Amino acid sequence: MKKYNVAVIGAGVVGIEMLRVLKQREFPVNTLKVFARSARDINVDGRVYSVQSITPDGFNGVDIALFAGTEGEKGAAVTYASEAVSRGAVVIDNGADFRMDPKVPLVVPEVNAADVKKHKGIIANPNCSTIQMVVALNPLHKKFGIKKIIVTTLQASSGAGIRAVEQLKEETNLIAQGEFKSVQVQAVNKYMPQQLAYNCFPHIGSFVDGDYTNEEWKLVKETHKIMHAPKIKISATCVRIPVRTGHSESIYIETVKPITPQQARKILANAPGVVVMDDPKNNLYPMPKDAEGRDETFVGRIRQDAFNKKGLWLWVVADNLRKGAATNAVQIAECVISNSK
Ligand SMILES: NC(=O)c1ccc[n+]([C@@H]2O[C@H](COP(=O)([O-])OP(=O)(O)OC[C@H]3O[C@@H](n4cnc5c(N)ncnc54)[C@H](OP(=O)(O)O)[C@@H]3O)[C@@H](O)[C@H]2O)c1
Repeated sequence: MKKYNVAVIGAGVVGIEMLRVLKQREFPVNTLKVFARSARDINVDGRVYSVQSITPDGFNGVDIALFAGTEGEKGAAVTYASEAVSRGAVVIDNGADFRMDPKVPLVVPEVNAADVKKHKGIIANPNCSTIQMVVALNPLHKKFGIKKIIVTTLQASSGAGIRAVEQLKEETNLIAQGEFKSVQVQAVNKYMPQQLAYNCFPHIGSFVDGDYTNEEWKLVKETHKIMHAPKIKISATCVRIPVRTGHSESIYIETVKPITPQQARKILANAPGVVVMDDPKNNLYPMPKDAEGRDETFVGRIRQDAFNKKGLWLWVVADNLRKGAATNAVQIAECVISNSK
């Protein structure tokens, strides 16, 4: 079997998960480089990886570059993705920099794996909250036609990176020591817009058009692009909650054809990457603590809207670092190598 020279860019929460996923999925790795801003050794599940300080020439000989660095003007992908491509690598980027570029495929393999073939060097991994939503909704869209989605996300601290996880820990410890006054807790708040421990806030990203946040617009625009369904009306509210890892979503859909919970459960039970956990009488429904470390998207609380036979409610949970980031990126890399055979 052919093996590939792989680079992981970023050694934060997603980069570390990427190293785990590559190993667990037995990705055919020949050489593995890990790049970040600063060089050091990191220990992931007992294996020590040597992290190198990133340089353009570090990409010489790399076949597949999995970017999990920071976004934006001075971020890893904007600075180094084209350097990697010009040296022959296929870049799979976890950030938002290229997602809406019409020349860059935006891929969730369970939904639009065929789009991988259209790449010109860069393939984008969608936002974590978009990935789990389209994995759950695309099978229903194919059968019943979705015309409207209203989604409220409840997003874990790790969705905002390693500093947010540390902030949640610090705040929680401070409160456990008896520092209950928010003002004191907020003294350790250097990263998130609000206190996160013992709190939640409807503010992820920055406020932009129409007083939605850019995180909320990602759910709209990325879903349109991945599902090739630009006419679906989508409204999102994104909420940060004090969970370590695992995003939850309360989703309402309106379909063209009438849909029942029984039909939806049957379709989702056979859908790729989906696990239906829906037995409310026995208190069975998905929760982030159970999704942590798993690659599937979990769906429960499937119920008819009380006033609309074409309306359905679902509760969707997935690990934002796995299916929401690292697993999806490695699955895209698997598509790249299977297309090259
Ligand atoms: N967290 C999630 O659930 C999630 C889900 C989907 C997508 N994403 C995206 O995945 C990316 C990584 O997120 P994260 O949560 O893992 O962030 P993170 O924990 O903050 O880690 C960021 C990593 O990127 C490295 N880095 C930053 N700028 C760099 C540069 N210019 N060159 C090379 N490396 C650089 C940092 O290096 P140092 O360690 O040396 O500082 C750090 O290791 C982001 O684009 C994020 O939007 C995250």
